[in-house]
Amino acid sequence: MNRRFQTILVTGGAGFIGSNFIHFLLEKADFQGRIVNLDTLTYAGNLESLAELAVKFKGTRYFFEKADICDRAAVERIFASFAPDAVIHLAAESHVDRSILGPEAFIKTNVMGTFTLLDVARNAWKGRHDVLFHHISTDEVFGSLGDSGYFTESTPYDPRSPYSASKASSDHLALAYYHTYGLPITLSNCSNNYGPFQFPEKLIPLMIMNMIEGKSLPVYGDGKNIRDWIYVEDHNAAVWEIMKRGEAGRSYNIGGENEWENIRLLDRLVEIVAEESGKPLSQLRSQITYVKDRPGHDRRYAIDCSRIKNELGWKQSVDFDDGLRKTVRWYLSNPLWTEHVRSGEYLNWMDRNYAVR
Ligand SMILES: NC(=O)c1ccc[n+]([C@@H]2O[C@H](COP(=O)([O-])OP(=O)(O)OC[C@H]3O[C@@H](n4cnc5c(N)ncnc54)[C@H](O)[C@@H]3O)[C@@H](O)[C@H]2O)c1
Repeated sequence: MNRRFQTILVTGGAGFIGSNFIHFLLEKADFQGRIVNLDTLTYAGNLESLAELAVKFKGTRYFFEKADICDRAAVERIFASFAPDAVIHLAAESHVDRSILGPEAFIKTNVMGTFTLLDVARNAWKGRHDVLFHHISTDEVFGSLGDSGYFTESTPYDPRSPYSASKASSDHLALAYYHTYGLPITLSNCSNNYGPFQFPEKLIPLMIMNMIEGKSLPVYGDGKNIRDWIYVEDHNAAVWEIMKRGEAGRSYNIGGENEWENIRLLDRLVEIVAEESGKPLSQLRSQITYVKDRPGHDRRYAIDCSRIKNELGWKQSVDFDDGLRKTVRWYLSNPLWTEHVRSGEYLNWMDRNYAVR
């Protein structure tokens, strides 16, 4: 099987993974069709990440629709105008700390929004089999691991934060639409992504930008929580393989097979930023500050991704040190993007360039 798509609806395409996915599809992947980016532009949505592509492909292969995935009428209108034959669903509230402070938006977007999209797709596609809805999820739905073991696709769900609970609900809904209505669904659960265009509330860009700006580098608890890290383009290449050749009704774990304690990762990042920016290593190290742990902080995530490797032949291609260095260089060489994000100016930029807010 090798699915071919004409029009892919990307939800959340102005976010970190979504904007990288659109770059990947238009610049690197074996895809000749068009992309519709549906995004409501929360604080995490930034069209500056797609500015060059939007100019190059606007109205031919790239279309932007400002809409909320919870707004059924808007989603129906977009389905009717563009007749997508695939959806990749990335739109979400995605930050665990924000979900602890205010869970409601997570339930609305991640649960109700996913339901709305699934239901509109079901009605629009009416039993077609030549279409696909790919739902993007996280390894956080599986809960927390001890010192050993890995999450597999059959690990029972055990979400601990409002974020992971909302993503778990959306995963169950997506698979329920496959089993109940035959909607062609594939699903992936991935570990922590890093790379260009990531909003600096997430660990790696936050630390890089704080290092550059001489601010403190906050580390939760004892810094020994373990995460698996994957370069965003490796994640996107995996998703694209699933979209083309994955089995409907099946979920695939995606990971970097690259576990790091937060504090060890930060030590390495400090060294790379020192080398790339010329800032003194001792000064950057002195910025590290331990802060009170996040409530319910999962200790360890680790992914067994043998299914996607064995069944679809995907594997990671970016070594962690190279990926971190590429990411650091990207943040250092895109000061306008980072300044606009830090100052909130990216919102004004979108007003001037798109008049969409
Ligand atoms: N970043 C990671 O490490 C990671 C890992 C595994 C899975 N995921 C999942 O991947 C997806 C994308 O993550 P990300 O890091 O790019 O997130 P992000 O926060 O950078 O981007 C989310 C995007 O969704 C948009 N959005 C939010 N609510 C919306 C709504 N109601 N309607 C339309 N658009 C809306 C935002 O404007 C933003 O552009 C999410 O589903 C997340 O759960 C992320």
